[in-house]
Amino acid sequence: MILVSDPREMQRLADDARRLGNEVAFVPTMGALHEGHCTLIRRARDHGDLVVTSVFVNPTQFGQGEDFTRYPRDLERDRRAAEVAGTDILFAPSEQSMYPPGYATFVDLERVTAVLEGRARPGHFRGVATVVAKLANIVRPHVMLLGQKDAQQVVVIRRLLEDLNTGVRTVIVPTVREEDGLAMSSRNSYLSADERAQAPVLFRALRAVEAAVAAGERSGDALRALMTSTITAAPLAAIDYISVADASTLEELPVLSEGRPVLVSMAVRFGTTRLIDNTSLTV
Ligand code: PAJ
Repeated sequence: MILVSDPREMQRLADDARRLGNEVAFVPTMGALHEGHCTLIRRARDHGDLVVTSVFVNPTQFGQGEDFTRYPRDLERDRRAAEVAGTDILFAPSEQSMYPPGYATFVDLERVTAVLEGRARPGHFRGVATVVAKLANIVRPHVMLLGQKDAQQVVVIRRLLEDLNTGVRTVIVPTVREEDGLAMSSRNSYLSADERAQAPVLFRALRAVEAAVAAGERSGDALRALMTSTITAAPLAAIDYISVADASTLEELPVLSEGRPVLVSMAVRFGTTRLIDNTSLTV
């Protein structure tokens, strides 16, 4: 594995690989790599001859007062994890090289960014879309691997890649979980022992919804109420939002209808830590 920090060098290597007829598979990350990220990297090998992983804690997707400064950074550790998982090129640019003085271009998406995470974190998806557009231009991948863990991000990035005619395909990888159901996340490291013990309540709320739907429940409000009561049973949990929405438009659903994919999602705070989780289902 080689470590590249210069965007022009990364572009040159990717272009060379493409010229030789290699498929380039790309896994964008913010580092603090865990088993979720490593699963994406291993899956990338199934789709590409050259596997590129990026590590960049993107400042533009963090809001005022969010965790940009305390976000875990350990490039040595990430380097080992990325290599073991099968990365060929680890692209870890500096903030300066991605956003040099005079930088002025941002990518904004309409509609799909107005709800859920986009509503709770104004400007977040503008930063995500901007950095992903830049990374796609630097790495020029054939395929990009994304985690279902960030369901709205998947909707936003797919829309972006299509709208900007990038020709980049996407492969979506199911959420990787701890044994007790907690979705793996770099932010789990912020949790105190008590918070960590209660954090699987997100997963339990998703399972409760799945069970209710399997038993015939079709009311969006009833499902949202079930999520709320499951989560509030954990005293340290504070609901940011809960949602039962159409999986492609992300509009809240009054009733579930047959054959229409549903995204059940939530954001829950434990102290200063904000966790998200989701499941998708079709009745
Ligand atoms: P990050 O949170 O580091 O996640 C990188 C990728 O790993 C995303 O596609 C995310 O959905 C996936 N991922 C994280 N946890 C996962 C889990 N438990 N199971 C499966 N996949 C998981 O998402 C970002 O970084 C950034 O917004 C980025 C796209 C890199 C732009 O800066």
